[in-house]
Amino acid sequence: MKKDLLSIYDLEKAAFGEIFERAKSLKKMLTYGEHHTPLRGKTLGMIFEKSSTRTRLSFEVGMHQLGGTAIFLSKRDIQLGRGETVADTASIMSRYLDGILLRTFSQELVDEFARHATVPVINGLTDLLHPCQILGDLFTIIEKKGEYDGLKIAYIGDGNNVANSWINAAARLPFQFTLACPAGYDPDEAILERGMKEGNVNLYRNPSDAAKDADVIYTDVWASMGQEDEHEERVEVFKDYQVNGALVSYAKDDAIVMHCLPAHRGEEITDEVIDSPRSVVVDQAENRLHVQKAIMEMLM
Ligand code: CP
Ligand code: NVA
Repeated sequence: MKKDLLSIYDLEKAAFGEIFERAKSLKKMLTYGEHHTPLRGKTLGMIFEKSSTRTRLSFEVGMHQLGGTAIFLSKRDIQLGRGETVADTASIMSRYLDGILLRTFSQELVDEFARHATVPVINGLTDLLHPCQILGDLFTIIEKKGEYDGLKIAYIGDGNNVANSWINAAARLPFQFTLACPAGYDPDEAILERGMKEGNVNLYRNPSDAAKDADVIYTDVWASMGQEDEHEERVEVFKDYQVNGALVSYAKDDAIVMHCLPAHRGEEITDEVIDSPRSVVVDQAENRLHVQKAIMEMLM
């Protein structure tokens, strides 16, 4: 049966280890210039309804490195954007392609697409979730800290797609996840409730409570794609949730700082912090490539 990657919560615990081990080998092979092309002759279709720098490039380059081809499809330019049904699009595309990556607004659309596709479907971000991001981030944490078991990961900011996927990871893996966000900007209620029940997840209003003794400080934009109209209002609501030098001083001395990027410097994170030696954002972005290659190799 084909396997999709729609949510981190769907992954078995063993799958995390497999992905990270494989990503480590693939990264090493690339460093040594070894060619590894198991996806020769295969094609990934990539449907984007939202902008992307890292996700698009890392999947496209990753597919190329694995010997396959990736085709970028803007939702505007395919018939899906003119009302062809999700079911028809998914089943027809499955006849040409060996895997499909989707970045769009609605998680329901991705889930429906996956139900009708006969090839693996990968969630490249929805308003609700961003699973590939958090898999790359966990791999980066392993590289920097040796493991994620027992660590305290503190997320400061909006309870958005990235926060939701972190909570899903915390429901599956043994790390502590603390999140500080303003009232009214909580993560998805059902995901949060399940994360608190099944994992070590705590929600705070005060950023320093979440950041205290953390091993990782993580943040993301205050207004996600699709929320541009709320930007001004959000900058006001979130102003006390900035990851700056004062907030980072609550974390452990050897804490690292992460951001999925793109960053709005001077809003959710200061230049001083994102450009400091603690910041691992560039390695974090690179690791999307290695982890997603592992994912594509496993699914396709
Ligand atoms: N972090 C991330 O997904 O970046 P892009 O929006 O550039 O793909
Ligand atoms: N929360 C952000 C993540 C971007 C990678 C957004 O959805 O725009």
